[in-house]
Amino acid sequence: MVRKKRKLKKQVYYVLAGFIGLIVLGILGMNYYNDLKYRQTNEFKLLDKGYSNDDTNIMLEKLSENSITMVLNKEKDDAIVALVKEKYFLEKNLEDYLTYIQEEEETNYQDVVAIVNVHANQNWYEEEYKTDPSLNELMLVNKFYALDKDYTPENLVNIPLTYAYGNEGDCKIIDYAYEKFVDLWQAAKDAGYYLMVNSSYRDYAEQEETYNYLKSTVGERKADERAARAGHSEHQTGLVVDMTSIHNAKDSTFKESEEYAWLQEHAHEYGFIERYPEGKTYITGYNPESWHWRYVGIEAATQIHEEGITFDEYYAFYIAK
Ligand code: DAL
Ligand code: ZN
Repeated sequence: MVRKKRKLKKQVYYVLAGFIGLIVLGILGMNYYNDLKYRQTNEFKLLDKGYSNDDTNIMLEKLSENSITMVLNKEKDDAIVALVKEKYFLEKNLEDYLTYIQEEEETNYQDVVAIVNVHANQNWYEEEYKTDPSLNELMLVNKFYALDKDYTPENLVNIPLTYAYGNEGDCKIIDYAYEKFVDLWQAAKDAGYYLMVNSSYRDYAEQEETYNYLKSTVGERKADERAARAGHSEHQTGLVVDMTSIHNAKDSTFKESEEYAWLQEHAHEYGFIERYPEGKTYITGYNPESWHWRYVGIEAATQIHEEGITFDEYYAFYIAK
C-alpha cells in the first residue's frame, strides 16, 4: 500500500517536472521566436544600422515603408535624419533632396528642403507644370507653373483712378481681390499713407511684350530675374497689384518708403503678400520686388506672414503636398 502510494507520488513528480520543462521550453521558444520577429522589424534594422533611438523613432513616424526600405538600402546617412526633422520636409522629395545635397554639396538642410520643394533645383523654364486656376486666389504661377495662353480671369474690374496711375481702365483686378484691396488702401490712408497702383492685370500678349522688351535691353538672364516670361506671370492671374505711393511712383526706391514698411506689417490682414521678398531670390527666382503684392486671401496671407515663407513654399507644403 505504502509502496503503491510512493510510486504514485513519484509519477506525479515526473508529470509535474515534465510539465514545468515544457513551460520553460515554451517560454524559451517564444523568446526566440519574438527575437527573430523583432530582427525583421524596421526598428531593429534602423538601430542595427547605427541610427539612435530618437532618430529611429522619428523615421518610423515620418516615413512610409518604401522610404524606410530606401534608407535601409543606403549607408547610414545623418543627412536623412536632418531632412526628416525639417518642418517643411516632404517625403515624396526625399530622393531629390539627397541628390541635391550630393550634387551641390549643400548642407543647409532647411534650404535644401525649400529649394527642392519649389522645384528651384531645376533649370528655369525647362519643365512646365500647369497652373490650376480652379484654386482661385491660391493658384500658383511662377517659373515652373504656367497659365494657358488664353487664360483670362473672370470678373475683372477696373481700379479707379483714385487708386491707380494711368488712364481709366488701364488697371484691372479680380473683383474679390479688389474689395480687399480697397480695404487695404483705406487702412493705409487712415495711417497716413497714399498708395497708388501702377500695374495689375496683364494678359499673355502684354506680358510677352514686357518680357521681350526687357530681354532686348538687359539680356535673357537679367530679364528672367526681373520679369516673367509670358504665361508665367502672376499679373495674368488678375490677383496682383504693383503698388508705390503718390509721393514716389518709382519702383526702385519704394523699398525705402514708410508705405512699404506699412505694407510689410499690415498687407496680410487684407489677404495680400509680398511675393518676391528680399533674401528669397534663391526660391522665387526674382530680384526683390517691394511693389509686387499678390492676393492669396487672409488665411493664407496670415500664415505666410507668420511663418516667413514665400508663396512658392506655402503652395508646395500646404496645397500641392
Ligand atoms: N515682375 C514680375 C515677376 C512679373 O513679371 O510677373
Ligand atoms: Zn508685378
